[in-house]
Amino acid sequence: MKIAVLNDAGGNEARVAATPETVKGYVNAGHSIVVVKGAGKAADFSDANYTDAGAKIVKDNGTATIDADLVMSITGGTKKLLSGLKKGAGITGLLNPTDNPDYAKACAKAGVTAYALEYIPRISRAQSMDVLSSQSNLAGYRAVVEAGSIYGRAFPMMMTAAGTVAPAKVFIMGAGVAGLQAIATARRLGAVTTATDVRPAAKEQVASLGAKFIAVENEEFKEAETAGGYAKQMSAEYQKLQAELTASHITKQDIVVTTALIPGRQAPRLIDKAMIDTMKAGSVIVDMAVERGGNVEGSKAGEIVTTKNGVKLVGLLNWPSRMAADASNMFARNLKNFLPLVTAEDGSYAPNWDDEIIKGCALTRDGEVVHERLK
Ligand code: NAI
Repeated sequence: MKIAVLNDAGGNEARVAATPETVKGYVNAGHSIVVVKGAGKAADFSDANYTDAGAKIVKDNGTATIDADLVMSITGGTKKLLSGLKKGAGITGLLNPTDNPDYAKACAKAGVTAYALEYIPRISRAQSMDVLSSQSNLAGYRAVVEAGSIYGRAFPMMMTAAGTVAPAKVFIMGAGVAGLQAIATARRLGAVTTATDVRPAAKEQVASLGAKFIAVENEEFKEAETAGGYAKQMSAEYQKLQAELTASHITKQDIVVTTALIPGRQAPRLIDKAMIDTMKAGSVIVDMAVERGGNVEGSKAGEIVTTKNGVKLVGLLNWPSRMAADASNMFARNLKNFLPLVTAEDGSYAPNWDDEIIKGCALTRDGEVVHERLK
């Protein structure tokens, strides 16, 4: 099949959906690959790396997609691009269908099949294609590292001739994929680490990383995980108890990283201004949920805000893109593992519509929006 790799770089995006490593694999498998000029530059892959791997470089996204069977992308490109695609072609990416249903409509109009990689079901067989996990893992790591660089003190305890440096106290709120990696990173750097979540399964996982678990563990907590493994929206009463616990704990913390999300909803508000007002000057709060409304009162998307009492609220966007080389490597390998599901035995493009992974992530088919969640 003919595969086009878009240049998605720009704004907060630095990743690329195929790397020289995966391109080489595609070429060896008999596919023909075009890569848009400069597509990998922001992730440290040069055009020469791609040509060495067997790809052809073309000048822009429009040229690349003209006769492509499958378009590989991080963000799905622009809606305008879709009208130039071949009817029946496929496009993959983090298409953000929940917030951007118009994109699926535009794909249907263009007769293009859109594969939203964030909708790939989290079943064992699909683990190697799980873009959400591969990117969140890196994001959790990066959030702690960046918090450390903004924080004016050290993470580990240091006993020196000039005196003792106290270890940083780090609190991670939300112990999913990003949160668990944030805990592991904070521990490795020597911080005294605590974490919270509303799902009981998180308790053991937090403990296994050597951090202390803190949560309101009442009856509602025991039921807080959905069948899909995600958190439920908690009741107002639970939220009040959780806020009281957070308030008493947060005042002693130096760094807080919040990652709490509830699928299809606004992120839960976990930290309010009154709590922040009790923290020491120089403390850092990273709100990784800022793009979905934020876990922290006062955090601003794309900004680092310093409060009156000197607490830094970090609302930086697109954390995986802040480590674009590794994030692209993992994203590209996820996509490589996905490719067999849209490939016939003879190597041509042919989605397997009987496969639950395809059914789970395809938004459109034959000019219609077909995904349950969008209907
Ligand atoms: P997510 O990004 O949707 O949410 C992040 C975390 O925030 C979750 O742990 C969630 O419980 C927590 N949270 C939500 N509301 C909260 C609140 N009010 N207070 C504190 N924490 C709150 O979650 P993510 O990282 O996508 O993981 C979700 C689940 O999926 C986890 O159970 C994880 O183990 C599971 N998973 C399964 C995989 C598989 O292949 N089977 C792969 C990756 C994750």
